[in-house]
Amino acid sequence: MRIALEDAADSLGGIRSRKVIQSDNNDRQETPVPDRKRIDQRTVDDLLRLLLGRPRVSLALLPTPMQKLENFGSQLTGTELWLKRDDLTGLAGGGNKTRKLEFLVADAIESGADMLVTAGAIQSNHTRQTAAAAARCQLKCALLHLAWTKDAGPGYRQVGNILMSHIMGAELFVDASARPIEDQGPLQDFCDFLRKRGDRPYLIPAGASEHRLGSLGYMLCAAEIARQSAALEVHFDYLVHCTGSGSTQAGLLAGLAAIGNTTRVIGVSDDHETRIKRERVLQLANAALAEIGLPQRISPADVEVIAADRSPYGSADSETFDAIRLLAQKEGLMADPVYEGKALRGLLKLASDGRFESGSKVLLMHLGGTPAVHAYANQFGTPEFSPLRAAG
Ligand SMILES: Cc1ncc(COP(=O)(O)O)c(C=O)c1O
Repeated sequence: MRIALEDAADSLGGIRSRKVIQSDNNDRQETPVPDRKRIDQRTVDDLLRLLLGRPRVSLALLPTPMQKLENFGSQLTGTELWLKRDDLTGLAGGGNKTRKLEFLVADAIESGADMLVTAGAIQSNHTRQTAAAAARCQLKCALLHLAWTKDAGPGYRQVGNILMSHIMGAELFVDASARPIEDQGPLQDFCDFLRKRGDRPYLIPAGASEHRLGSLGYMLCAAEIARQSAALEVHFDYLVHCTGSGSTQAGLLAGLAAIGNTTRVIGVSDDHETRIKRERVLQLANAALAEIGLPQRISPADVEVIAADRSPYGSADSETFDAIRLLAQKEGLMADPVYEGKALRGLLKLASDGRFESGSKVLLMHLGGTPAVHAYANQFGTPEFSPLRAAG
């Protein structure tokens, strides 16, 4: 397969971008968003020029849609709630890693690697999206699954993300030693093993965060949100999303700072921990601004991470399951118990704590994770069927 760097016009502003193009590249038609007031067009264009000048493979269907949530939003009295659909980024199962991987996979291809390597829990959305990106780019993929959480139920090792990674042809490895989520396991040794075997691995850290390019995808997303909200004539006061490995929040903060946008970003932790996450988000955001040569910096006060459901990573309490059911039954949309259910729970908590001033406009990011719902099926209760009796 031919892989080359070419200049390409990017739909995010018609700015020339440097993309890694493959001969079978199937770039999608992307709808340009008209420029309107409330954003400084010059700074958005400047940011786009800096980001789109970098090598990037086209993996995501961009821009992802934004929709108003009238029914679920009515739970947040006095506010207007919108949803950014990054669960629809395009690779099998969707999710936030796809935006990040556009930059990392380009770097992998440029460095001559023939294999993407990463780690995550058995039901990791990140490993599944890495498997999908590798398939799209016809690279090999090796996934190391770590015991960051106990199996959630009988289907945990068979369905959802792990099934999809298997179908997409990734080589699946597992390390059974129980570890905290901050421990990425023997990834370097794993790469040495692959190299000895004759592979040319490119190592992507878990969550694609602690990498020089890890936050660029969500910097670009910040510019996308600015354009969409300008087109919709909605200025968001708050942006709420789930935070785990940190580069989604870091990229959003860095991108918004770069364009002078004052929307307050609130991360909802995927577990009880908030201090390590705040420090990591701060470090990643400032590293991303430096990486693309911008002078702005994020201060610790800009980084807000709350914990709503304090269950350990990979498990959720009954209020999170209630929040998932509420979204499903009010909007016909799905959220998972590991990440997005916790974001919903955090959003409801922020509203009930009176955090959103009356009239606030809130943008909730849906960052994917839906495939994992199946692995937690037993925790939603068994579907009940009513027998169909013949009338009379
Ligand atoms: C569905 C979903 N939401 C949120 C997150 C958290 O994103 P980040 O790791 O960039 O903080 C993840 C990360 O795995 C995810 O899969």
